Amino acid sequence: MCGIVGACGALDFRDYLLNGLRKLEYRGYDSCGLFVTDGSFSLLERSVGVVDNLDKQVPTTFEHTPSVGIAHTRWATHGGVTISNCHPVYSFDRKVILVHNGVIENFVQIREFLAANKISFYGNTDSEIVANLIAYYLSTSAKDMLEAIEMATSKLNGSYSLAIVHLAEPHRLYFAKNLSPLLIGKGQGANYLASDQIPMAEISREFVDLKDGRFGYITKDEIHVYFQGQEEKVKLVERSSENLDVSLNGYPHFMLKEIEETPSCIERLIKNYVFHDEYTFDPKLLKIIERASEIIFLACGTSYHASLIAVDLLRSKGKLASAYIASEFAYHPVVMTKNPLFIIISQSGETADLLKCVPFIQDNAYHLLTITNNRYSSLARKAEYYLNLYSGVEVSVASTKVYQSELALLFMLLDAAFIKGHHFNELREQVKCLEKIIAHKEKFIPVAEEIAKYDNLFFLGRGIDYSTALEGALKMKEVTYINASAVQAGELKHGPIALISNEFPSIAFISEEKTAHQMRNGFQEIKARGGRVFVVSSKSLSLEDDDIIVCDSPLYLSPMSKVMVAQYLTYYTAIKKGLNVDKPRNLAKSVTVE
Ligand code: AGP
Repeated sequence: MCGIVGACGALDFRDYLLNGLRKLEYRGYDSCGLFVTDGSFSLLERSVGVVDNLDKQVPTTFEHTPSVGIAHTRWATHGGVTISNCHPVYSFDRKVILVHNGVIENFVQIREFLAANKISFYGNTDSEIVANLIAYYLSTSAKDMLEAIEMATSKLNGSYSLAIVHLAEPHRLYFAKNLSPLLIGKGQGANYLASDQIPMAEISREFVDLKDGRFGYITKDEIHVYFQGQEEKVKLVERSSENLDVSLNGYPHFMLKEIEETPSCIERLIKNYVFHDEYTFDPKLLKIIERASEIIFLACGTSYHASLIAVDLLRSKGKLASAYIASEFAYHPVVMTKNPLFIIISQSGETADLLKCVPFIQDNAYHLLTITNNRYSSLARKAEYYLNLYSGVEVSVASTKVYQSELALLFMLLDAAFIKGHHFNELREQVKCLEKIIAHKEKFIPVAEEIAKYDNLFFLGRGIDYSTALEGALKMKEVTYINASAVQAGELKHGPIALISNEFPSIAFISEEKTAHQMRNGFQEIKARGGRVFVVSSKSLSLEDDDIIVCDSPLYLSPMSKVMVAQYLTYYTAIKKGLNVDKPRNLAKSVTVE
């Protein structure tokens, strides 16, 4: 779960590599490093922590103008967060220097093979064994770097995207790719490599979206791609026209900016899926949804919580539906009927747990619809049917606007397939409701400042509000490190209430009339035990003393308002605690390892 950038040719290497890493920090930010050379001079700098730390180490001007450079931002898998495990890593003879994204599953065997050939290691990463394996083949049997890379990668099990420099060839940047994303950007007097389009968006108009099993090299004006020993014709694709903006635009944090981009994201979705007041979804897809014997959602984290709302909606229409956490489904698949439709939901489209589920779906010839926020992602490419979330890049590790877009898109899709309505107008009304919440965000600050005093927190809800509670608890946990968990409010008295005290408060959501009364009875039980309850209610179900009151919405859109409140409370709580809101500890935006 790392980010890679590299380039060959005439460019400002310092600017491209460091800013490229900053744009890829969403892929991991434990440590980072860069390597540049022109053959006579080389510089390797590595640093623990964020890219700004590395920036301070790298001289403002290089001794010589580099001809090739690579850089890496890391989310540790093999080996601790130490300088010796930072990338770029180098081979035993210090001639092969590379950056790696992915996980080499058979690294222990390869390490043993290399050790038996008297090759020693300075760190604990699976990446260092790849550098050594390439150098080993180059020094024993391969005629050149290309052959050494082909021989080495043929021995690797697992995922990798690699950008590789050989000191004797400072005008080439080699690469190899399998199951981890890697793109080549075509530039003027220089060519580029990166884990996604974002670092190259301003300098490349055309890209090569590398397929698995490919390897090759770029020079300043050439691109060579090989597959199974044969050179392939290079297929260039136009730069995505989607919004790749990753600037803060005056906001102090991406999380705040992204929460407040929600209304425009939903409007963009409506624009993309509604034309002349009719849905534009592929009629074949709608038929499949309608006729499916059951609908099975697969997702992780926040996207899983979005799918729970869709399951509720489908079940309310009498449709068999279920949602599974992908890491569980991958090893314990459950299909109860003959003709299911799978719907995979993923912000990034790169989540390894989801990719692991795809062969099961494809081997059984089940229908698959994939929903992601990146149409070039691995999951999007594997899709039978694909729907884009059009939310623009989400930088903050905590997903906010994309969760909302997932809810909105699922609502429209199921409306088109089952309800056969034109409920996008309700969605338009919901946008207005969200705008009102944004306009009154200051109201959340005192509540968040109160929450920041506690180490533990329950999120309570019933029915659809329980899914919101799950999402609220996840947000609070990952960004503020408060031990937050979701409880179905009716279950409280069956055990969890034992934890309630004046040091253990709850946040409760009320959106549903039929359970509002029972919810409030539960609050009395909590209060009787010294517990504080922060109540977030819909207007028509509210009482004067409720802490936060939001506008009324149709039931299946109400999670959008409640979640936005939970997102704000999380944001302001983290600010109060002085935490790194956009980059919480131990996490990465895109989880590309199992
Ligand atoms: C969201 O706030 C989390 N960082 C995380 O749970 C995330 O939703 C999960 O990793 C799934 O990611 P995906 O949507 O990109 O597949």
